[in-house]
Amino acid sequence: MKRIGVLTSGGDAPGMNAAIRAVVRKAIFHGMEIYGVFYGYQGLMNGNIKKMEVGSVGDIIHRGGTSLYSARCDEFKTIEGQKKAIEELKKYDINGLVVIGGDGSLRGAKSLSDLGLPCIGVPATIDNDIAGIDFTIGFDTALNTVIEAIDKIRDTATSHERTFVIEVMGRNAGDLAMYAGLAAGAESIIIPERKDDFDSVVHRLKRGLERGKKHSIIILAEGVGEGVQYGKKIEEETSYETRVTVLGHIQRGGSPTAQDRVLASRLGAKAVDLLKNGEAGKIVGLQNNQLIAQDIDELLANKHRLNKDVYQLSQELSI
Ligand code: F6P
Repeated sequence: MKRIGVLTSGGDAPGMNAAIRAVVRKAIFHGMEIYGVFYGYQGLMNGNIKKMEVGSVGDIIHRGGTSLYSARCDEFKTIEGQKKAIEELKKYDINGLVVIGGDGSLRGAKSLSDLGLPCIGVPATIDNDIAGIDFTIGFDTALNTVIEAIDKIRDTATSHERTFVIEVMGRNAGDLAMYAGLAAGAESIIIPERKDDFDSVVHRLKRGLERGKKHSIIILAEGVGEGVQYGKKIEEETSYETRVTVLGHIQRGGSPTAQDRVLASRLGAKAVDLLKNGEAGKIVGLQNNQLIAQDIDELLANKHRLNKDVYQLSQELSI
C-alpha cells in the first residue's frame, strides 16, 4: 500500500479538517504518498484529485468545514458511478481510500470496498447516528453550538415569560436534541425515537404552569417534524405565548472543540495505520473510549441506538 487517497463527503462536520490533517500526516509519516480528492464522490468520479504534502494541511486543524470540500452525489449511488470512481483512482495508481463522512458516505465506502478497493471509513457527522461507536466527529462541536444558542434564547424566554420551541438538526436521530436538552436544562425534548412524547410535553408544561413556572424551553429534533407546527400545537394546547427558533446550519459550522480535534486526529491516523497493515472494509471509532475498527458491513447493518440512560436522566432532571 504505497499510494492512498482521502475524501470528505456529505454534510460537513467540524473536525473534518483535523481528520484530513491526520490522514495526510500519518501517511507521510509511514512513507506513503497521499492524494486529496476534492468535492467528495462527485470529485472522485470527475478525477478532481491532487497530491498532498505536509504543508497542504497546515493551519487547518482549528477550522470548521472541510478544506477538501464536500458534495452530495446521486450519481455515485449507481454502479456505473462507482466504477467510474474506481477507474479514476486507477489512473493515479491509488490503491486505498479513506472516506470521512456520515452514514451515506460510509455506505459509499462500502460499495467501493465491495468492488475491491481497500477503503476505511471515518465517521464524521453532527448527527451522531452511526451504530457501534461512542461519538462521531463534529457532534461535540455542534452540541456546544446548540447549547450556546439555547442559553441565549433562555434569556428572552425568562424576560418575556414565553415558551420556546427550538428545532435542532440530527436527521432521523435524536442525539443532538437529547444531549442538548440535558446539557442546557430544557424542560422537554421531542425526538424521533420517542414519538409519543407530545402529550407528555403538554402535561409537563401544564404542570409547570400550575406550580408557577413562567417559561419553558422545548427542544425538537428535526426528525420528528417542523418546529413551527409544534409551536402552534403547543400554543393551542396550553395557551402559553410560544415562539419557535430553527437553529439550522449554524450547527454545522465553527471551530471544532478540543474533543472533536482529538477524536478526528486519532481516527484519521488509525485509518491510515489499517490501510498500511493491509486491512480494509473497516470503520474506525471509539467504543467506550477505546480505538476500534469494525467491519463495514456489520456496522452499517446495525441501527444506531439512543442512549436510554441519558434519555431517562434528561426526563428525571426536567421535572
Ligand atoms: O447530516 C447532517 C445534516 O446537517 C442533518 O442534520 C440535516 O438533516 C442535513 O444534514 C441537512 O442537509 P443539507 O445541508 O444538505 O440541507
